[in-house]
Amino acid sequence: MSVPEKIREEYKKLVEEIKYHDRLYYMYDRPEISDAEYDRLFDRLLSLEREHPEVTAPDSPTQRVGAEPLKAFKSVAHRVRMLSLQKVTSKEEFADFDRRVKEGLGERSEIEYTVEPKLDGLAVELIYEKGLFTVGSTRGDGTRGEDVTLNLRTIHSIPLKLSGETARRYPLLEVRGEVIIRRSAFGRLNKKMEEQGEGLFANPRNAAAGSLRQLDPKITAGRPLIFYAYGISAVDLEELDTHFKVMKFLKSEGFLVNEHLKLATGVAGVTAEFDNLVKVRPSLDYEIDGMVVKVNRFEEQVRLGEISRAPRWAVAWKFAAEEAETKVKDIVFSVGRTGIITPVAKLEPVRVSGVTVSNASLHNEDEMKALDIRIGDTVLIRRAGDVIPEVLEVIKEKRTGDEIEVAMPENCPSCGTMTVRPEGEAAHRCLNSACPAQLSERIFHFAAKEAMDIEGLGGKLAAQLVENNLVKDPADIYLLTKARLLPLELMGEKKAQNLLTAIEQSKKRELPRIILALGILGVGEAAARILAEQFGELELLLRASVEELMEIDGIGPKIAQSIVDYFANPGNKEMIAKMKRAGVVFAPYRAARKESVIAGKSFVITGTLSKPREYFKKLIQSLGGKVSGSVSSKTDFLLVGEDAGSKLENARKLGVMTLNEDEFSRLIGL
Ligand code: IVH
Repeated sequence: MSVPEKIREEYKKLVEEIKYHDRLYYMYDRPEISDAEYDRLFDRLLSLEREHPEVTAPDSPTQRVGAEPLKAFKSVAHRVRMLSLQKVTSKEEFADFDRRVKEGLGERSEIEYTVEPKLDGLAVELIYEKGLFTVGSTRGDGTRGEDVTLNLRTIHSIPLKLSGETARRYPLLEVRGEVIIRRSAFGRLNKKMEEQGEGLFANPRNAAAGSLRQLDPKITAGRPLIFYAYGISAVDLEELDTHFKVMKFLKSEGFLVNEHLKLATGVAGVTAEFDNLVKVRPSLDYEIDGMVVKVNRFEEQVRLGEISRAPRWAVAWKFAAEEAETKVKDIVFSVGRTGIITPVAKLEPVRVSGVTVSNASLHNEDEMKALDIRIGDTVLIRRAGDVIPEVLEVIKEKRTGDEIEVAMPENCPSCGTMTVRPEGEAAHRCLNSACPAQLSERIFHFAAKEAMDIEGLGGKLAAQLVENNLVKDPADIYLLTKARLLPLELMGEKKAQNLLTAIEQSKKRELPRIILALGILGVGEAAARILAEQFGELELLLRASVEELMEIDGIGPKIAQSIVDYFANPGNKEMIAKMKRAGVVFAPYRAARKESVIAGKSFVITGTLSKPREYFKKLIQSLGGKVSGSVSSKTDFLLVGEDAGSKLENARKLGVMTLNEDEFSRLIGL
């Protein structure tokens, strides 16, 4: 039976509409409709495709959600080799490059260049055949890469289909560019990884690479990857005779093209743009390590050709290094709250971009092996993503032969239990829940500001309490007395008293904080609040099934299972009982939906707030409010963070009430 014309039309319109909203959301971070409205459109699309499978378009948004897992990646040959770039690090070196270009071209007048940021991600190639995205691969060794098509399909800034005109003109089109993760998204991703008890990524580049090289495309689909196009290969581009025109063309075909791409003439022009990029760099939401300068005209590029894997017509002008050399004094292993064992390099203290660095996480066994780092090695370190120090490489030439190799410990450095590395995971773990190191991390978490907020109970004291056998689980904090505390090192009368007072006060904390403090794997601040809202009492949460938990917006299957597992554990039950006996109040929590002042009210969030936007969004929704992407006359409140832009202006024009974070907290009675 053929599909009625009406349905076909609706389908086509729907696909376009969803694509439009996808672009606003994924590429420009500027949604116009609420999640609920989007879900409604998407559900309709799914149901049309279910009822009439033959209408399904190859570029339908439903085709991005992630296919079945692979066993291994296939290898793909690049038709045109993926080259690397020569590097320069100063104006003088760039002037040398410019001179070679002029000589190569026999040209006296100034050369027209393009300049664009050098993105710090991973290079991929996308093949479009008759306008459809068919194969995508990593750079690999430049000649052959890995086939990561299914994963690339999940990235919303990669068009699945190009315009009809382009399909006809260029039946084969190879687009190249860089897959990256924005800094802001990287922060959120790592927070999620931490909450789920998984290992953290060292920097956005590793996160992008790790996310793209997943055998299960569904995992990639959940990661905030974006693709910036930076060129085309292997076709006769006819009137597209410059790099700049190609980039404009790619933009018109729906690719994300860097907003800082510019034309510049000669050494003076390029240098001015470089200085400008240095200034702009801190405000960019992605990491760059320099500026790529390319000769703009293809005819000139062709005449210049290439030498040893790098084109003569392009160069990477790298930023002055935020890097420093130092020595590895030791490699130690730290045990986290969930038992993950992390190798850490202890360094001779050294200053990098204004901060003294003396430790650097080596993350896990694989990263440690990839670096081949040993005690006594001289290493190059840098501060990645502004703060986290990272070992970039070992300077092997400086080895003396006295360096000491270190392997992941077979036994937990804290409790001696045999460590395991579960299949498919990068992290080694200590599975002993009574492990002192884990225990002291759990206590630290329990007392944290966002949880039970016990002032004075930091990491050091937590370790001391465990070492001296004063606590066996976080609830034992409530059994501490002055007599027990005073013998501890550096503990005076006053400090002990203050601590006991803080502990006493913590007994009245509200349910969301208590749930967070329990340290359930995957349950961070936002989830804890949602659970408190939903169940109102710990007793009810305790009895919830996986199915019930999964019904709740914001609680996925993994967290649901982890909650059920947590409460099934007798040790955890005993800890809660102990807290009750000690007088922790566990008052029923009712910021309840019905009475909430913001129930039914519509919010828009803008600017940088103290926590990720997602947190505020969930919070507002849990109180019955709605959150949408853009300000209209129907908006009740605009929640305004720092550096707010056009939304704030709009709100003022429309007379929408604005709230800063403090005012918002007061409004909802936090
Ligand atoms: S053009 C032959 N443009 O830098 C020129 N590359 O060393 C090919 N990269 O791995 C590259 N941003 O992935 C070009 N705007 C940009 C780039 C860029 C980052 C990476 C590229 C490659 C490396 C070249």
